[in-house]
Amino acid sequence: MKEENRVKEKQLAASKALQFIKSGMVVGLGTGSTVKFMLEGLAKMVRSGLEIKTVSTSIATTQFAESLGIRVSELKDVNDIDLTIDGTDEVDPQLNGIKGGGGALLYEKIIASLSGKNIWIVDSSKFVKKLGKFPLPVEVLPFGSKKLFNKLNSLGYNPRIRMENDKPFVTDGNHYIIDLGIDQTDDIRKLNTELKSFPGVIETGFFIDICNVLIVGKESECEMIFKNEKDRFI
Ligand code: 5RP
Repeated sequence: MKEENRVKEKQLAASKALQFIKSGMVVGLGTGSTVKFMLEGLAKMVRSGLEIKTVSTSIATTQFAESLGIRVSELKDVNDIDLTIDGTDEVDPQLNGIKGGGGALLYEKIIASLSGKNIWIVDSSKFVKKLGKFPLPVEVLPFGSKKLFNKLNSLGYNPRIRMENDKPFVTDGNHYIIDLGIDQTDDIRKLNTELKSFPGVIETGFFIDICNVLIVGKESECEMIFKNEKDRFI
């Protein structure tokens, strides 16, 4: 798919998601380029009088939101998060996904787990029959990470330490990311449990049973897919 078409679809999905945001809500802000389009629309709504509180899933999102005039609260200063809008790297028909391409998976998962509802916004290239073409990001403690890398390698997960400027990429939580080749995996729940059992693994990029509403930009329109019937009425 051409990059300009992906961008257009991301914009469509992002602007559709804005209809779920109402005054008085606490809104979780995801991370990534699709979320940035959503934030541009949200900033306009805030300028027109929408009153919301927001919490953020990354330093990058906080900085971008605040540069647009959206105030971001500390997580400890809000009660319940009503809904979170985030992107994803892959999502399957059961609305399970792989996230963390932008390196924000840990804070994204914490915010998502505290949210009443989670809405994901994607271009159509990310909607896949089976997860795993996108490498699975795993956030790990730097201490012992080489040993963990070797273990993952011996298990056949084709690990790669994520790099930035010739050094390991460091997350907002001061951890490393190991990206795994998992395209042979059929049981994502089993693999998730296995990975989380290894000391040093902080979190995986599997987001299972988290997304309630998926908004897919498709050429010039959007498709909304709901996890459950009741999610139509959020
Ligand atoms: C960051 C993420 C992002 O949501 C994911 O990478 C999608 O990003 P984009 O909207 O730029 O395609 O998980 O950790």
